[in-house]
Amino acid sequence: MKKKIIISIICIFVLILSGCGIEKVPMPAQNEVTDKALKDVFSEHGLKIGTCVSQYVTGNRVMADLVTGQFNSATMENAMKPDYILSQEKSKSSGKLVVEYNQEAISILKWAKENNLSMRGHTLIWYNQTPEWIFHEDFEMNGPFVGREEMLDRMESFISGNFEELKRLGYLDLFYAYDVINEAWMEDGSIRQNHWTEIIGDDYLWFAFYYADKYAPETIDLYYNDYNEQYKADTIADFVRTLVDDDGRSLIDGIGLQGHLYTSDDLKGYLDAVDTLAETGLKLQLTEVDVGLGKYQSPLSATDEHLREQGRFVYELINGLFERVDSGKLNMDAITFWGFSDGISWRREYSPQLYDADLDPKYALYGAMQIKEYAGY
Ligand code: GLA
Repeated sequence: MKKKIIISIICIFVLILSGCGIEKVPMPAQNEVTDKALKDVFSEHGLKIGTCVSQYVTGNRVMADLVTGQFNSATMENAMKPDYILSQEKSKSSGKLVVEYNQEAISILKWAKENNLSMRGHTLIWYNQTPEWIFHEDFEMNGPFVGREEMLDRMESFISGNFEELKRLGYLDLFYAYDVINEAWMEDGSIRQNHWTEIIGDDYLWFAFYYADKYAPETIDLYYNDYNEQYKADTIADFVRTLVDDDGRSLIDGIGLQGHLYTSDDLKGYLDAVDTLAETGLKLQLTEVDVGLGKYQSPLSATDEHLREQGRFVYELINGLFERVDSGKLNMDAITFWGFSDGISWRREYSPQLYDADLDPKYALYGAMQIKEYAGY
């Protein structure tokens, strides 16, 4: 018995030492450090600053106040993805692919309008989080695939229907950017194989932009958005140059770099990729930034040392971008973080956000705000 108790005590010590019991080093509150909000700092460089949101966030008073106080742009974390905005029932009865917004999306749009937040649309054509039934005859899961022409019609009806629905609801003018396609390219330079390529062919990419350009208002910039962009920069740069109409007019306005980064990443290499993409002449945005502690599949615990490293990383990243924007080398009008708090991040095991789970500021916040003194140096 005694032996068991000793072993348990040792185990508890090991757990504490290995990170479970990391003591939080208190950070000064934001209003003690600066009288500026995040959005004030970014506005000085002509940029919006965004976060993704869900109804969980907008329905929580403290979180919603933090978002409206610090950010001026929002992207829906999920509620505007194809899985959420296409109606199988209405598609079956009308015979064309029908867009219908859900209550979550509508309530977030209402909240964004009331709080003067601009919106990024995310996302239209994607291989993921897209209903399987849209690819099958009669919109039935178990039917055969439709043919190319029918699928192109469905794509057109999806894209036109989306902008019509936003207009009908009265929220179209909140949008300044829209991801037309998400994640179509692989790191080896090939096109990701999916139902769109299988049914339409590789030119589904061109058609998506053709329809988006046809139906979106001029005020909405049309984006291609992808991850691991630092490894795909040449591929993406070549691709966007193909997106022109018969008169040589570009069908795309911008490239979205998701920015799911790690503190172990090569920041110089990342900024080189930004420069390569900027040479296309298109706008760039960072659209889903988070900077995880450690590296892919090896998260580090949130010790003061690791959090400081993250703060410095975020400082250097944002500094590199601001420098390029200020010198006219980079046409960037917004940076969006994929969340704001470690507690609700999709990568929470990497503690990748600007505020911790208690919504207290981290070095990373002061890094993003370019307050070097508190950014972990
Ligand atoms: C990708 C998508 C986002 C989101 C994240 C995970 O980056 O673009 O919409 O799904 O994965 O949350």
